[in-house]
Amino acid sequence: MHGSILLSVILAFIFGLNNSWGQDDFSQWTIEQSLRSYKFLHKNISPPASVPGTVVASPSRSNPDYYFHWVRDASLVMLTLERFLQKTSDPVLKDYIAHQFFDFVYLTRSHQQQNSAGSLGEVKYHIDGRPFVGPWGRPQNDGPALRAMALIQFAYFLIKEGKEDFVRLWLYDSNLPSESIIKKDLEYVAHNWRNKDFDLWEEVEGHHFFTRLVQRRALKEGAALATFLGDQGASDFYSKESVNLEKEILRHWDGDNRFFKASLNPTSTRGKAGLDSSIFIALISTYREGDSFLKLSDDKIMGNAQSLKDSFSKIYQINLKNPDKAPLIGRYPEDTYNGYETNALGNPWFIATLDFASYHYKLAKSLSLDFKKGKKLLVTPLNVNFIQDIFSKYFSPRLIVLGQSIKNEDQSMKQLIKALQNEGDAYLKGVRSYVGPLGEMSEQVNRDSGQMQGAQHLTWSYASFLNAFFNRAEAL
Ligand code: NOJ
Ligand code: NOJ
Repeated sequence: MHGSILLSVILAFIFGLNNSWGQDDFSQWTIEQSLRSYKFLHKNISPPASVPGTVVASPSRSNPDYYFHWVRDASLVMLTLERFLQKTSDPVLKDYIAHQFFDFVYLTRSHQQQNSAGSLGEVKYHIDGRPFVGPWGRPQNDGPALRAMALIQFAYFLIKEGKEDFVRLWLYDSNLPSESIIKKDLEYVAHNWRNKDFDLWEEVEGHHFFTRLVQRRALKEGAALATFLGDQGASDFYSKESVNLEKEILRHWDGDNRFFKASLNPTSTRGKAGLDSSIFIALISTYREGDSFLKLSDDKIMGNAQSLKDSFSKIYQINLKNPDKAPLIGRYPEDTYNGYETNALGNPWFIATLDFASYHYKLAKSLSLDFKKGKKLLVTPLNVNFIQDIFSKYFSPRLIVLGQSIKNEDQSMKQLIKALQNEGDAYLKGVRSYVGPLGEMSEQVNRDSGQMQGAQHLTWSYASFLNAFFNRAEAL
């Protein structure tokens, strides 16, 4: 990597840190691990012989072969890079990342213009830009939504930089049918979200919480961009469909089991009950302060967090052996994919654990903003265990009772925020024990031995780490 880029990243990190950052060993480690994550992530973007803009899911070319541009993984990575773009005032770093975005724009145009079996919901592309044509679970309609989310942010960046012409030419024109890439994706999402597709884990055909939440976010942000660019009719349509999605998303709630079911109307069930870490991956990627739909502090979401934690604490040896540490989290309890084959025993995943850490950081931040505005947190049958559990872990047992309201002036409010930050740290500390000596992260961690396994240097693992790092910084 270009030396000055690495330096820029380091400086951006340091300037981004505020005084409350301890000089303790763990905080230092989070900084080092972020830099290493950035370095490894960067290697997987536009690797040698690829069309620029290609983001490979992993450098592993066999057992398993992940040397493809997966639209979901790539878009999530670009969303992470966007946070650098927003945070840095360093012109070198800004130009560099903007350049990577332009490559991503041109590559996406070429992906969209090819006929592929999954249409715009095509799952993955070769590094030369051709769609993968072998059998696969397609379409996966979270892809175009995540891609639109990443590109919408970039469009605003360009507009701020005085490049609205480029935006109107490449990203969003008001034509129908449109050749501009954001509008193409938004039209596809708005017209296809009612159809069944494959979930983010590429296994279940049906309707998925993860997919619907990212579709809603893309349509909402798409509507705002359309209004900004004078395409009001489209904006109204995207808004209307985003509201229609909300009703469907809430149908995923399973009150008896206290979690949002990952999939509804599955074509075949594969024996999954529906408890799934993708609920939190979706939430932390789509959550915006000020949006009142499914807040992170919704008691259903807190209840779901407790169900997830309880379940994963009990299933992996590495968790059972360390009962006073935060558990490592997998995709879903019944998982049988071990990173190499699908009829084995599933393992904890870095992305699932890291995004669950992020949930705690983001919840801490969101609650403290709410408290400052005078809002209260009501202790309900759904969230009581989650709150009590976290409290008793970090503070001398304190009675949190059903029906109580926690509010700004309370001591318990400060403790709750602190406990959530600590709990986020507890998950990161869990991850810390399993990363490689140079900060390497694969896809999974063996449930018994704690050795990494599955695709090596999974780009998404690094992106999730960087997000957790930023979320931690924003929560402290
Ligand atoms: C099988 C796994 O179960 C699935 O989740 C994964 O996406 C594919 N293999 C591709 O690696
Ligand atoms: C398997 C995961 O299930 C899927 O979500 C991901 O897109 C691919 N691997 C590539 O990383």
